[in-house]
Amino acid sequence: MPRFPLILGAALRRTFPALALAALLPGGAPGAARAADVFAGAKIYEEHCARCHGPRGVPVLPNVPDFSRGERLDAPDQVLIERTRAGGRLMPSFDRIISDRDILDVVAFIRTLQR
Ligand code: HEC
Repeated sequence: MPRFPLILGAALRRTFPALALAALLPGGAPGAARAADVFAGAKIYEEHCARCHGPRGVPVLPNVPDFSRGERLDAPDQVLIERTRAGGRLMPSFDRIISDRDILDVVAFIRTLQR
C-alpha cells in the first residue's frame, strides 16, 4: 500500500474517523476497501435506522442512544461497525441485512448527526 493514504488518513482522522479508517485499512478488511460514503450512509440510515434512532439522531423510542448528543459515538468505528452488525438487546442485527460496505457508510453518517 502506498504511503500517502496513511498521511491522508491521519489528516482526516479528526474530522472524519470512518473515512480515515477506510483509508487506513488494507483491502482485506470487509467493506473497507474504499472510503466511506456518508451520502450513501444517509440513505441507508433513513431506510433502516431512522425508525428507532430518529431522522436526526434524536431517538424516537426509549433506551435508544441519542446520536445527536454523541451518545456511543466516542467508540472507534470498528466498534460501532461490529455493534451495528451484531445488534443489541432491542436493536436487530444488520449482519446479512445490509452489506459490510453499507454498514461502513452508515457508521460514517451517524457521526455527522452529533450536534
Ligand atoms: C428497532 C429499533 C432500532 C433500529 C431499527 C436500529 N437501532 Fe441502533 N439501537 C437501538 C437500541 C435500542 C440501541 C441500544 C442498545 C440495545 O438495547 O439494543 C441501539 C444502539 C445502537 C448503537 C450503539 C451500540 C452500542 O451499544 O455502542 C449503534 C452504533 C446503532 N444502534 C446503530 C444503528 C444503525 C446504524 C442502525 C441502522 C442500520 C440501527 N442502529 C437501527 C435500536 C435500533
